[in-house]
Amino acid sequence: MSQSDAIENLFEEHRVFAPADEFTAQAVAQASIYEQATQDRLGFWAEQANKLHWHKPFTKTLNWSEAPFAKWFEDGEINVAYNCLDRNVLEGRGERVAIHFEGEPGDTQTYTYSQLTEAVKRAANVLNGLGVTKGDRVAIYLPLIPEAIISMLAVARLGAIHSVVFGGFSADSLATRIQDAGAKLVITADGGYRRGKASALKPAVDEALGTNNCPSVEHVLVVKRTEQPVEWFETTDIWWHEAMAEASPEHEAQAFEAENPLFILYTSGTTGKPKGILHTTGGYLTQAAFTHRNVFDLHPETDVYWCTADVGWITGHSYVVYGPLANGATQVIYEGTPDSPHPGRWWEIIQKYGVTILYTAPTAIRSFMKLGRSIPDQFDLSSLRLLGSVGEPINPEAWMWYREVIGGNRCPIVDTWWQTETGAIMISPLPGVTHAKPGSAQVPIPGISARVVDEHGHEVDNNHGGYLTLTEPWPSMLRGIWGDPERFVDTYWSRFEGQYFAGDGAKKDADGDIWLLGRVDDVMNVSGHRLSTTELESALVAHPWVAEAAVVGARDEVTGQAIVAFVILRQDQLEAAGADADVSRVLREHVAREIGPIAKPRQILVVSELPKTRSGKIMRRLLRDVAEDRPIGDVTTLADSGVMGAIAGKLSTGAQD
Ligand code: WT7
Repeated sequence: MSQSDAIENLFEEHRVFAPADEFTAQAVAQASIYEQATQDRLGFWAEQANKLHWHKPFTKTLNWSEAPFAKWFEDGEINVAYNCLDRNVLEGRGERVAIHFEGEPGDTQTYTYSQLTEAVKRAANVLNGLGVTKGDRVAIYLPLIPEAIISMLAVARLGAIHSVVFGGFSADSLATRIQDAGAKLVITADGGYRRGKASALKPAVDEALGTNNCPSVEHVLVVKRTEQPVEWFETTDIWWHEAMAEASPEHEAQAFEAENPLFILYTSGTTGKPKGILHTTGGYLTQAAFTHRNVFDLHPETDVYWCTADVGWITGHSYVVYGPLANGATQVIYEGTPDSPHPGRWWEIIQKYGVTILYTAPTAIRSFMKLGRSIPDQFDLSSLRLLGSVGEPINPEAWMWYREVIGGNRCPIVDTWWQTETGAIMISPLPGVTHAKPGSAQVPIPGISARVVDEHGHEVDNNHGGYLTLTEPWPSMLRGIWGDPERFVDTYWSRFEGQYFAGDGAKKDADGDIWLLGRVDDVMNVSGHRLSTTELESALVAHPWVAEAAVVGARDEVTGQAIVAFVILRQDQLEAAGADADVSRVLREHVAREIGPIAKPRQILVVSELPKTRSGKIMRRLLRDVAEDRPIGDVTTLADSGVMGAIAGKLSTGAQD
């Protein structure tokens, strides 16, 4: 069954999996917490917050008087890094492994909580020596190596703000993010290992600082990972290992107010300019830790947890760094790609470390499905006891495959819906409590109020679809968009009065369970990563050959959606470039350079006109029909109804790899 069939047949899905008695007997989450949270939502969150260490206890739980700008636990004082590190050591968990690092080439490193704490203290001293203090912004552009986690925690320890930029983003994307946040320091590496080879990072930083001009940056701290030669700028560049060796291992964590910012993370919206999503400390850590414990049924003394996300995404922030470490978990992090040096690498890692909890994305599951079960079947996956999914709707067939082939029919699956903006999981079954349904994220977690509403904002009945909204503030909610409070209100709070609009379509089934149906705005979801159509179009039009561009997300068996770009070329420019110019290759590479390889279109279709309404609006719906290779829908509102025939004929000329 293809993904599209699966989504359309959602309500034909009657399989339900009750939690096993043995699982329920030992489960962290108890059915009673739903009841408890319903009766006293704020009391419930206050109780969760009090599981953290507060340097100064809070007395106020929520201040919503300036809605939609929330303040949680505002008179409390906390240090996020202290909660993730010192506290574990002081409470006797210093010898427990915090991180098993597996490099792509097969090198490994282990950090106990004591060792990680010492490394972060040194790093905090290094950063402090470079003038980083409370409120300063630090850009982190690193591969998934322990130094990425150490850097984030060192920034947090100082009350400063990190902006992690995914290592797959280009120099231009990095520069835009550095400029928007006004970062003072950049932490990077010579490179990292991907797909069996060393791939450079430092040159992108050099380019960002050089040609793009980022005057806010005073220093660049460089981790040596691959030993690739790097260009060196004496006035700005400092080797991480040299600075760390000289730094003192003593550092006392100071307390900061609960609403002190923790990080900015950029994500795509419907315009070309990425939004700097702002998160703060006390509420964020409360919900990250609560969900990590309850949704993943974490037993920190015995579990080995593995979340496959990169720290460049929100999943890596909340479920690689802050949630697991605040809970004293032992986890695995892996630097490279799943197929390097062989397609069973992930399963080999699970076998090697005895991973018990695996959290990954549907796109990965679908690509393993495509390779067939003979690969995972070669490894011992019997240590696994819980599986998680995040990033996009998981189609029931992929869910069933995950359950059978990876989970040996014994592991509950948690399909977790949330967003960069929500900071932590919002909708998910609770293992040991909820009866699971393949393909549905099901129910808001305790303390969260979600609704499916019609276009007027009224809740729909069961068996109906609409828009997903959140109706009450939650502790880990975004506190705004960096430097743009108006955009925050406009984007999320203006469509439905008094409700946060997530941008997703959803349906409620006969039991009232929620099924997520994907984005309803001009945002694509490619391999679980958000990209905006406008951002892609702007990048294409920036190329001299392109006169006009329209981009759509087309269904794709592996990546969920794939980018298909329709372009109108400038003939004069093209002729100047030579008749045999490979338009498709050149434009795809251009986009990879402008935004990053994740944004490379699957296909570029050269057309002579785009379908527009009389008012000039591009009708993406029709382009999506072409890109998904199905009959073209209603064309009566087109200014020129003949356009679509010409475009449909172009499909076969697109490039693919
Ligand atoms: C968008 C948020 C949350 C971390 C990864 C992505 C989609 C996310 C699910 C899910 C259906 C999902 C939504 C959401 N999404 N998880 N379990 N089922 N859709 O974070 O880049 O901020 O994207 O991802 O469309 O709005 P993000």
